[in-house]
Amino acid sequence: MCVSVTATLVVVLAVSGCGDKGDDSKLSATHSVGGLTGSELFSQKCVQCHGTNVTIGPSLRSVYGREAGSLPGFEYSDAIRHSNIKWDRENLILLMLDPQGLMPGINMIDSNLDQEGADLIVNHLERL
Ligand code: HEC
Repeated sequence: MCVSVTATLVVVLAVSGCGDKGDDSKLSATHSVGGLTGSELFSQKCVQCHGTNVTIGPSLRSVYGREAGSLPGFEYSDAIRHSNIKWDRENLILLMLDPQGLMPGINMIDSNLDQEGADLIVNHLERL
């Protein structure tokens, strides 16, 4: 009769160990590029200019579906202000893969991403 109590305890201990991500979290994502998820790629490639407490680039909160260059209070270049585009998936990917090709004169550097990485970042932007 005592055996089942011990077995249950072992199971509980084993399950509670699964939440421990540590430094290996990069490897555990199923949807990833080079082991990085969209949110991790975003942190690595975009947050230094677009982070919440950074003003180098405009905030990307709710950027998906937004008119380009339309955030009040941010001093955009003429290139982006007069572009007349919306940030849908296609344009966001083009911006990441070839910013100057999409908008000659834009003040944003090439993000050095491939198509798959850009796609994952758009998945993340859609939720911001
Ligand atoms: C070195 C700084 C820097 C990095 C890194 C950077 N950006 Fe930008 N980004 C800018 C600046 C500056 C602008 C405004 C450009 C302008 O006014 O011409 C901008 C504009 C944008 C816009 C247009 C927003 C709007 O309101 O119209 C989007 C979308 C964007 N960036 C996405 C990204 C994404 C996604 C990444 C990461 C893959 C990224 N950026 C990385 C500096 C950066």
